[in-house]
Amino acid sequence: MRPLVIAIDGPAGAGKSTIAKALATALGIEYLDTGAMYRGVTYEVLRRGLEATDVDAVARVARDVRFEQTANSLHVNGDDATAAIRTPAVDAAVSHVAANSAVRSELRERQRQWIAERGGGVVEGRDIGSVVFPDATLKVYLMASPRVRAQRRVAQHGGDVDEIARAITERDERDSTRDDSPLRQMPDAVVVDTSERSIDAVVAHIRELIVARTELS
Ligand code: DC
Repeated sequence: MRPLVIAIDGPAGAGKSTIAKALATALGIEYLDTGAMYRGVTYEVLRRGLEATDVDAVARVARDVRFEQTANSLHVNGDDATAAIRTPAVDAAVSHVAANSAVRSELRERQRQWIAERGGGVVEGRDIGSVVFPDATLKVYLMASPRVRAQRRVAQHGGDVDEIARAITERDERDSTRDDSPLRQMPDAVVVDTSERSIDAVVAHIRELIVARTELS
């Protein structure tokens, strides 16, 4: 049987983590945050005093790094890095790490392995429906207006809305224009705008889509 893979892609602040976690709980399957993996590599790169733009050194870190990941935590080489992967320093460096093809191919393999071990799951990222799992059961592309996305970040982590909106736009730009696996909306993805909808409403909508999809196959 084909594994049940729900791919959730979209830009920063669209609500991916919240929705993907709630959806996984509702479905009784596991959740994988692939952004946390790119952040984990970045954390280790910075911890070692390396430059995020040093392609070979960063690739070596990605191949060697050991992760223990749950829905709400990430340990990097045994250290709890759950909070440290969300700092502005990691935010600023992570898109350079994510543009590194050797890093992407290493993490892609780990993500496929994660699904192979479980037989399915909800996987959240930027290239899940396009590259990692092109045959996913359902591909969802979540989006929200830039202002709403910045406001959500501020509500969670504080800061200035305009400044954060600018940083988000810059990161989106780098994520969507990189050569390797850029963020893009796949033609077979269902686009869901979360700007004006509650978490529950979005999760319920996606569950209906999954039912329709699995009944058809
Ligand atoms: O979702 P996030 O903000 O935690 O993602 C962190 C960075 O990693 C972001 O700049 C995009 C990148 N990323 C990626 O390139 N591919 C993924 N599958 C997930 C995240």
